[in-house]
Amino acid sequence: RAGVTRIPVVVHVVYQTDDQNIGDAQVAAQIDALNRDYRKLNADVAQVPAPWQAVAADSRIEFRLAVTDPAGAPTNGITRTRTGLASFDTDDAVKSTADGGCDPWPADRYLNMWACPLGGGLLGYAQFPGGPAATDGVVILHSAFGTGGTAAAPFDLGRTATHEVGHWLNLFHIWGDDGTGCSGSDFVADTPNQGGPNFGKPVFPRLSCSNGPDGDMFMNFMDYVDDAAMVMFTQGQVARMDATLDGPRSSFTA
Ligand code: ARG
Ligand code: ZN
Ligand code: CA
Repeated sequence: RAGVTRIPVVVHVVYQTDDQNIGDAQVAAQIDALNRDYRKLNADVAQVPAPWQAVAADSRIEFRLAVTDPAGAPTNGITRTRTGLASFDTDDAVKSTADGGCDPWPADRYLNMWACPLGGGLLGYAQFPGGPAATDGVVILHSAFGTGGTAAAPFDLGRTATHEVGHWLNLFHIWGDDGTGCSGSDFVADTPNQGGPNFGKPVFPRLSCSNGPDGDMFMNFMDYVDDAAMVMFTQGQVARMDATLDGPRSSFTA
């Protein structure tokens, strides 16, 4: 993949209460946040510790709200659906009009994002490449979506979407999804082996799995820290995104 890839995005706002019906500005702010993070234009990348500054990477991926809908008509890239459901979970009901959500736009042409109420403390979830088109995309809690408006600290910098879109591009969690063990891998060579997820705002260095002296790369977008503490992807992670855009999601590079 050469140059910059631009991904058309449709945001499906699914709401029961008026505050869940987030405004166009909050949606636009989410796209801006994605573009900063994926182009390494986020100012807080300066907080990457010195040993990892050289592996912090620009993914050369940009996001833009769709300007044409599936039928070819002009759109602002936002759909709005009132639902009778108080909250959704990971069962994909939000992705189905018949189940109280909103059907996706064609998944080979648009990144579908749903902003909605979620239960159980869930901030968001994503579908990896290779899954069914009918459920492809990412789902984000309305109050962890974008910046400004109803976005609530400590998840108010738009980074739940940065993280979930990472999964959509085939990135795994940085700790390797093996609980707190040291045998799991994210299949990325330049992220250190790490025990379990980190939360909050950790202090460097934070050691696990004999990974001293630098320890966990907790400031990576694919950890579970607060929005203000996650600031980087690595070159190795970008190589996985490249493989995705050259492979199962190559329809976006045509
Ligand atoms: N899937 C994760 C969750 O729901 C998302 C974590 C996002 N982290 C963040 N700082 N925004 O817990
Ligand atoms: Zn995740
Ligand atoms: Ca690793």
